[in-house]
Amino acid sequence: MNCNLGIRGLALLTALLGAEPSLADDRVLRIHDGAGAREYAVAELIDAVGLTELRVAKDPHFGDRVFAGFELGALLEHVGLRDAPELLLVCADGYSIPFEVSLLSQPALQALLAVRDTALPADGEAHWAEFRHGNEIIAFDPFYLVWASTDASIDLGTEALPWPFQLTEIRRFDRARYFAPARPPPSAGEDARAGFATYTAHCGKCHRMRGVGGDVGPALDRQNSLSSLLPTAQLRDYVRHEERSFPQSKMPPFSKILSPSQLDQVVAYLQAMQPAR
Ligand code: HEC
Repeated sequence: MNCNLGIRGLALLTALLGAEPSLADDRVLRIHDGAGAREYAVAELIDAVGLTELRVAKDPHFGDRVFAGFELGALLEHVGLRDAPELLLVCADGYSIPFEVSLLSQPALQALLAVRDTALPADGEAHWAEFRHGNEIIAFDPFYLVWASTDASIDLGTEALPWPFQLTEIRRFDRARYFAPARPPPSAGEDARAGFATYTAHCGKCHRMRGVGGDVGPALDRQNSLSSLLPTAQLRDYVRHEERSFPQSKMPPFSKILSPSQLDQVVAYLQAMQPAR
């Protein structure tokens, strides 16, 4: 085949399809059902699941917005994951967050796997308004999970309802099996064992321990990590991560999220997991 012709043909096709952005959209969602992986193109999902618009009054990144995308329950049904108790939402930036599928059964709650912000032209290059974190401009492609509720008493800001962006993959997931390698050794004290539960709920989505977890932050069991170098009180202070001490950090201010005893326990867990020096 003549390569140049191929490229010209593609440009023409893209021009012709200008009014049908879905067909020119090359984004794919990877689905891992435990046995194997499959990729779904946006156009295929539009045909099978249909595009829905959802008004999100308090989006944590963009404020009041209307997004277009796939209703999450219908999408999971289509890809064969609606029956999974838990899923792992994997993102290009290293974020890897567990999600309980039973949450979708609350009738007042709406979850949309968004493909674009409807305030931008459907046939344009950009799918989302610009979002800045410190000096960085963060891209939200390929997918962004957003939430809305018809019941004002439902808190859409809890950790149970994740808002991952750059979402690339959804995997069937078993929390206990996934985090098994990061379990504290039998010799660890009670605090460290309790800290492991806090760790899997709040930390493992961004950090690796014994090779499992996310990649937003550094692995917490590497040689010379802060967890092995800092005295207990300072490590606890670090994990508290007060906003005023770490204004640019992607790590949340756990001083507002964890209780004092949870902080002690997660620190005991980190210390129990450090490689011997
Ligand atoms: C949203 C992602 C995110 C979450 C959740 C998170 N962290 Fe972090 N963490 C980071 C990043 C990024 C860094 C690197 C420093 C920075 O950017 O502030 C970091 C750094 C650290 C460090 C220092 C590592 C080193 O040796 O340099 C420790 C210790 C730590 N985190 C512990 C925790 C604990 C414990 C939790 C759960 C209670 C947690 N983190 C949750 C993103 C996260």
